[in-house]
Amino acid sequence: MTVNVIKSLQWRYAVKQFSTDVINDGQVQALLTATRLSASSFGLQPYRLLIVKSTEIRQQLLAYSMGQDKVLNSSHLIVFATQTNLGDEIVHAYIDQVSKVRGIPSEELQDLTDQIKGSLAAKTPQQKNAWAKNQTYLALGNFLTCAAIMGIDACPMEGFNAEGYDNVLGLADKALTTAVICPIGTRHEDDPFARMPKIRFDAEKMVLTF
Ligand SMILES: Cc1cc2nc3c(=O)[nH]c(=O)nc-3n(C[C@H](O)[C@H](O)[C@H](O)COP(=O)(O)O)c2cc1C
Repeated sequence: MTVNVIKSLQWRYAVKQFSTDVINDGQVQALLTATRLSASSFGLQPYRLLIVKSTEIRQQLLAYSMGQDKVLNSSHLIVFATQTNLGDEIVHAYIDQVSKVRGIPSEELQDLTDQIKGSLAAKTPQQKNAWAKNQTYLALGNFLTCAAIMGIDACPMEGFNAEGYDNVLGLADKALTTAVICPIGTRHEDDPFARMPKIRFDAEKMVLTF
């Protein structure tokens, strides 16, 4: 098992050129289910996963993607969007879910509610954004690993204009903002990056034992 995970992580790379192959919806949904299972601080999952299939929308997004046409020329574009309304409302949504899934009356969850609300209230708006973005990137990491294990190619991307993405996708109305994006699909056989050895620092440099 360990060997297989390492093999999958060696196989994956940040794809520069995708083929025209389309990943079936079942595979995409499975990948997003795996991503939804990501850990997050307090379990609040302060982000949403957007699947952009529409060619027309992707064409519009291309204008805000620093010329990286893989946002258009790939199977699906996944947008990881962070919630911007980090306050009592999202805490209540979470507590309602705990109550429903675990069958606990919400009155019995008052201490937990107060603890989470207090933790969020103690943060400045900038700290809240940074905290939410951290959770979003954790999901991105999980997404990339699961995609690799499933044999789905991907390219995480920060090379885009978040304001442009937010406008095209109408995210302000949904209290969301684009954090990071990731086209997925199948690598093009001509993508030279597929054959390049991985650049990683040696274990002795990266892993410190105390
Ligand atoms: C958060 C993040 C943002 C990235 N942004 C881009 C990008 O905009 N365009 C791109 O081609 N690669 C992007 N990359 C890919 C990295 O350059 C790549 O992961 C790194 O060089 C390691 O190579 P590998 O993923 O192929 O093993 C990004 C990676 C991460 C994790």
